[in-house]
Amino acid sequence: MAPLGTMLVLLSLVLGSAKIIPQAEARAFFVFGDSLVDNGNNNYLVTTARADTPPYGIDFPTHSPTGRFSNGYNLPDLIGQYYGLEATLPYLSPELSGDKLLHGANFASAGVGILNDTGVQFINIIGMYDQIAYFLQYQKRLSDQIGAENATKLVKESLVLITLGGNDFVNNYYLIPYSPRSQQFNLQDYCNYLISEYRKILQRLHEVGAERVIVTGTGPLGCVPAELAMRSSNGECADELQTAASLFNPQLAEMLTGLNKEIGSDVFVAANTNRAHMDFIANPQAFGFETAKIACCGQGPYNGIGLCTPFSNLCPNRDTYVFWDAFHPTERANRLIVQQMFNGSTFYMNPMNISTIKILDP
Ligand SMILES: *[C@@H]1O[C@H](CO)[C@@H](O)[C@H](O)[C@H]1NC(C)=O
Ligand SMILES: *[C@@H]1O[C@H](CO)[C@@H](O)[C@H](O)[C@H]1NC(C)=O
Ligand SMILES: *[C@@H]1O[C@H](CO)[C@@H](O)[C@H](O)[C@H]1NC(C)=O
Ligand SMILES: *[C@@H]1O[C@H](CO)[C@@H](O)[C@H](O)[C@H]1NC(C)=O
Repeated sequence: MAPLGTMLVLLSLVLGSAKIIPQAEARAFFVFGDSLVDNGNNNYLVTTARADTPPYGIDFPTHSPTGRFSNGYNLPDLIGQYYGLEATLPYLSPELSGDKLLHGANFASAGVGILNDTGVQFINIIGMYDQIAYFLQYQKRLSDQIGAENATKLVKESLVLITLGGNDFVNNYYLIPYSPRSQQFNLQDYCNYLISEYRKILQRLHEVGAERVIVTGTGPLGCVPAELAMRSSNGECADELQTAASLFNPQLAEMLTGLNKEIGSDVFVAANTNRAHMDFIANPQAFGFETAKIACCGQGPYNGIGLCTPFSNLCPNRDTYVFWDAFHPTERANRLIVQQMFNGSTFYMNPMNISTIKILDP
């Protein structure tokens, strides 16, 4: 019979090794796109598109600005939390190394669009082809850490979110009267062009390993406080930008269906965040909002003029506002949108919602 000492050692070895058997790893999460999903990359860049001063982040757990264009959490934070994923860091964060690489990364950069020339006025932002180049650089770093096969598997089994399009209208086509793009294209042709360029970006994302990609359309561009302040005389949503969103979003959904057919699998999932958002705008009270027109933080009509700064008007209760600043939703509005993304019908999520993704994917 083994002496007691040896048995204790054996026992502790067994218990000890039980403890280090890795949990089934949560899938990694990768995020691409613009300010609706940037969680701090622009803090590391010399750019004017930033959210790193108070009161941004006022309702974040740290109550301080993070680079998110929100009073608190933004879309990817909430998707990750409801899904049970580990929080992802901005790709440019120096803290993104070691085991943190295994959870994924956020490559988004406020101000970018589908087109390379969108957002150039913000000086130094990470355009879409650069975001994808960083994704490849990330994969190389991951592969050095866990081996090529493991890295490929992690990326293949990941969840991806991409949000683009709003800036191609607001910060390009409609940025100034007679903008170069509006001289070049009428609105319908511009949408066609955006969709064909977006298709190339998504194909590239699939080529470099993404297998499950949630693609949001644009929000209700004409209803944001900035546009109410600049383009609406009576508080109705601005027509032309609403027309832009209503041309772009259905074409995007159709393009994704086509891509999936070509690939032979439902890689791309269309999230009609515009529809979820329009529900609040049509009837804010039904969702517990006091207003869907006035931004919580800003100045001028609808608090829609200029930036949200420490000197702006600030509403006391962010949960009763749909819009945090002149362009971006509050955390609570984001939360309701994400709940629709999880449990909505095909009217909101096509061909499936995130609850279904969670059941289908490993
Ligand atoms: C955008 O930039 C990328 C990378 O620099 C380039 O490959 C692509 O052709 C450009 N797109 C257009 C429409 O010019
Ligand atoms: C790949 O992952 C497995 C399981 O976690 C691990 O045992 C193996 O060492 C990894 N491969 C490399 C090259 O790191
Ligand atoms: C989706 O619906 C299920 C079942 O009703 C619920 O438990 C879950 O919290 C919902 N998810 C979200 C994100 O709202
Ligand atoms: C969306 O999610 C719910 C579960 O929360 C499910 O009952 C429903 O069928 C789903 N709809 C689609 C279209 O996947």
